Amino acid sequence: MKTVILIGANGKMGKAALTGLGKHKVITAGRSKDGCDYQVDITSEESLRKLFKEVGHFDAVVNTVGVCEYATFEEMTEAQWMTTVMSKMMGQINIVRIGQEYIADKGSFTLITGILNLKPIPFAIADATTSGAIDTFVKCVAFEMPRGIRVNSVNPTVLAEAWDVYGDMMPGFQPVPSALVGKAFERSVDGFITGQVILVDA
Ligand SMILES: NC(=O)c1ccc[n+]([C@@H]2O[C@H](COP(=O)([O-])OP(=O)(O)OC[C@H]3O[C@@H](n4cnc5c(N)ncnc54)[C@H](OP(=O)(O)O)[C@@H]3O)[C@@H](O)[C@H]2O)c1
Repeated sequence: MKTVILIGANGKMGKAALTGLGKHKVITAGRSKDGCDYQVDITSEESLRKLFKEVGHFDAVVNTVGVCEYATFEEMTEAQWMTTVMSKMMGQINIVRIGQEYIADKGSFTLITGILNLKPIPFAIADATTSGAIDTFVKCVAFEMPRGIRVNSVNPTVLAEAWDVYGDMMPGFQPVPSALVGKAFERSVDGFITGQVILVDA
């Protein structure tokens, strides 16, 4: 059994990840503490450091947070770009950058991306661009991780449980059940792979 910090546990993707972490001791964290063990803001280096210090020993971090702004490229403001970059890109890079100081030997980080960098749709340019950045980040940073630490991303299509929210934006996409996406998180945490983008598409 590993100790796994799950960031974003209250979100739809957090709940999907949890279905794959059944064998482990899961410590939950979210922006609002609301039912979680810890409060954390992934856009704050200080908040991330506090979380990792307070948890103490942990073997894996699974992050499912990445706030994205949606607009056409022509209409998206710099502020909207920066919200997305500071959460989905830098927030996740900082989880690994700061977390690697605290995680156990042979630990793992699993980050969230999303299908839209591979299958673009209107309004999703910031989500797609930062997902692509994180998929590249995990492939490249894996070569630099110390102490046998692994890092992967899960790149899923839309969840069946989120289809009521995103379905209208995604004609022609086939949603997948949370339990299938949970398997991708399980493969990252329990397997030996590193530097991989684990694609979950229908
Ligand atoms: N849903 C899908 O079908 C799907 C498919 C592929 C990829 N994704 C990606 O998965 C990620 C999460 O999506 P979701 O559908 O799970 O969203 P969601 O249901 O809105 O959940 C997002 C979670 O992130 C937390 N959060 C937001 N900002 C935070 C911060 N700065 N620090 C810590 N926690 C923060 C929220 O906490 P509070 O509730 O406390 O605000 C919430 O629990 C996104 O990047 C999305 O692009 C989603």
